[in-house]
Amino acid sequence: MFVLNFVILSIMKTVIKNISKLIQTESKLIKFKAGNEMSKLNTIEDAYIEIKEGRITEFGSMDNWKGISDWNNTTIIDAEDGMVFPSFCDSHTHLVYPKSRENEFNDRINGLSYEEIAKNGGGILNSAKTTQEISEEELYEKSLDRLINLISLGTGAIEIKSGYGLNTKSELKILKVIKRLKEKSPIPIKSTFLGAHALPENYKNKKEEYLDLIINEMLPEIDKQGLADYIDIFCEQGYFNTQDTIRLLNAGKKYGLKGKTHVNQFNSIGGVKASIDNGALSVDHLEIMKEEDYLAFNNSECIATLLPSCSFFLGIPYSPAQEFIKRNIPFNLASDYNPGSSPSGNMNFISSLGSIKLQMNAEQVINATTINGAYAMGLENELGSITIGKKANLFITKPIPSYQYLHYSFGENLINKIIIEGKEFKK
Ligand code: NIG
Ligand code: FE
Repeated sequence: MFVLNFVILSIMKTVIKNISKLIQTESKLIKFKAGNEMSKLNTIEDAYIEIKEGRITEFGSMDNWKGISDWNNTTIIDAEDGMVFPSFCDSHTHLVYPKSRENEFNDRINGLSYEEIAKNGGGILNSAKTTQEISEEELYEKSLDRLINLISLGTGAIEIKSGYGLNTKSELKILKVIKRLKEKSPIPIKSTFLGAHALPENYKNKKEEYLDLIINEMLPEIDKQGLADYIDIFCEQGYFNTQDTIRLLNAGKKYGLKGKTHVNQFNSIGGVKASIDNGALSVDHLEIMKEEDYLAFNNSECIATLLPSCSFFLGIPYSPAQEFIKRNIPFNLASDYNPGSSPSGNMNFISSLGSIKLQMNAEQVINATTINGAYAMGLENELGSITIGKKANLFITKPIPSYQYLHYSFGENLINKIIIEGKEFKK
């Protein structure tokens, strides 16, 4: 005799209550905020959020909370009078790298510039050598540790680039590690192919041949294995120029990869316009800007990505954030986490740099590190604000007097709990 067991599946609900202030609530989906809009931030005092199946289903003032109808299937998270923010969306990192480079850091302390170190075989080429030597397994383990650390610091979505391989085997090794991280990670990850990060030693004076290798060998294989969401190039004096950028972005287009490019870090050589005219989703760095670079944004939906920790660490100029606001150009703030120019991926510190060094008010910083970061990864409908239907990736702070306190108290860890898809995340 067969006994049929019917399992009644009831949907688990999570309620976060005792929230002193719920930050960045949006009743509708928006793409990004730019110009004056960046100073607007909706908040709710004394609030709650309800989450089902990892997504926000309800939020509002505690006065309007209907209470719990089904105690058996509800988990309560007590915010203990902390504020609740949507997680940081970090749209630019090089998190998969083999080894730190504090020896070069020391050279810089002793007076050498980033460019001089690179010319002496350090920099990206140094990381390329160690990437070629490391096993995929070890690279994965190291990268997973870094990712978990960043999640515990409030990052709820992240982009990761290749670019330290500089040959087919090693670029694929990095991209495979990113794919494994995607499978394991509780937060969304976007993968960017940055084969054109620097000219490898064996292609010195053979730039066209290296670009041929990227386009004819690496890209088809990456496409076949589904390893990238975006394509990137370092458009800079001594690396790749605007023609290379145009060629590469068009090659990427054939595989459905939009550009997210490194431009204007040290020099303005036309990379912004070349990227935007060829469909880039974001142009990143922008420490050095000319009038024509700003004008290139006209009538486009490309977002700028500013990386203030790179300026902090290398001692180069900060991106003119106020100019972007004045001109209504959307931008986000990201960490650029990498061993050479930003060995920290802590978005709390990036937020403090936004206010201290880019003169951004707290509302601008919060918009730039959440919804605008989400847009720079194509995730604006999933993350970046407290909106019904979005993924419940959030962080709960310790009790703080104001949301600006988070940026003001730089170097402090004021996060009490991390919530990923409605569940408390523990390291
Ligand atoms: O975004 N500028 C190019 N790439 C990285 C640094 C790479 C490195 O030094 O390892 C950046 O700053
Ligand atoms: Fe970078």
